[in-house]
Amino acid sequence: MVLTRLSEVSFQTTDLDALPPAERLVMTSPEYFDILYVINPHMAGHVGAVDKKKARQQWNELKAAFESCGLHVDVVNGMPGQPDMVFCANQTLPFIRKNGQKGVVLSRMHAAQRTGEVTHFESWFAEQGWEIVDDVFHGDIEFEGMGDAIWHRGKRLLWGGHGFRTDLSVYDLISQQLDTPIIALQLDDPEFYHLDTCFCILDEETALIYPPAFTPEGLELIRYFFPRIIEAPEYEARDLFACNAHCPDGKHVVIQRGCTSTKAAMEGLGFTVLEVDTDEYIKSGGSVFCMKLMTW
Ligand code: ARG
Repeated sequence: MVLTRLSEVSFQTTDLDALPPAERLVMTSPEYFDILYVINPHMAGHVGAVDKKKARQQWNELKAAFESCGLHVDVVNGMPGQPDMVFCANQTLPFIRKNGQKGVVLSRMHAAQRTGEVTHFESWFAEQGWEIVDDVFHGDIEFEGMGDAIWHRGKRLLWGGHGFRTDLSVYDLISQQLDTPIIALQLDDPEFYHLDTCFCILDEETALIYPPAFTPEGLELIRYFFPRIIEAPEYEARDLFACNAHCPDGKHVVIQRGCTSTKAAMEGLGFTVLEVDTDEYIKSGGSVFCMKLMTW
């Protein structure tokens, strides 16, 4: 079941099956992180401009921030020649079946430069006994994992972005494979090319979003399922990747430093905000959420 407008919705989140909280994360070590090509508007003008020492420091601090929230971080080694592999939300979509079997749907990367990253994650998950789902897509369909497909907190419901890196048609196949409803949201602004750049689930009832990145149909769906919405202002969303924050537990939010008004709004609702610097990665079009993959 893939829903694209509110008139198709016949359930509330309270009707859905529970999903265990993701208490583990995967991060990719950043030694090969670089900007060597331009595949999103943020990368333009930044080719060769990564400060490697600063990038390593920022990655270490981000990992420490996640760990301070009680998360276990597994590190997958980066690979030479794959400068974007550090954005490890993109190569897979992890899932856990109702019988407890864990698995990943493998991505079909939009850019040829990134396709080699996927097999590396496939081997890593296969070694740990995870089910590998890679036979659902046919033809040259595109899907970029948890950059676009994000689990609702605590519920078997997927939010699926499409338009730039992921084709809408993948969601029918994923919905059948994972036996879960999917709410498909069309993305409308090339700077917000993944769902995780403009949509962040804080808790079961609260989302942080950048509204202009969505169509009216998408916004209506978001507002229906989340009674509390924080809207990031343009500068914080576009330049500081405010909506690429991560809230692992419904209480703490890790976010790029300087998102002043977003931070105040979250604190006003009782969230504890942890600020980190990810500006070396923002040059490549990614921040907190895309630098990790939520697993179980
Ligand atoms: N340079 C990377 C790309 O364009 C950044 C990916 C950021 N990931 C994300 N989930 N938003 O593919």
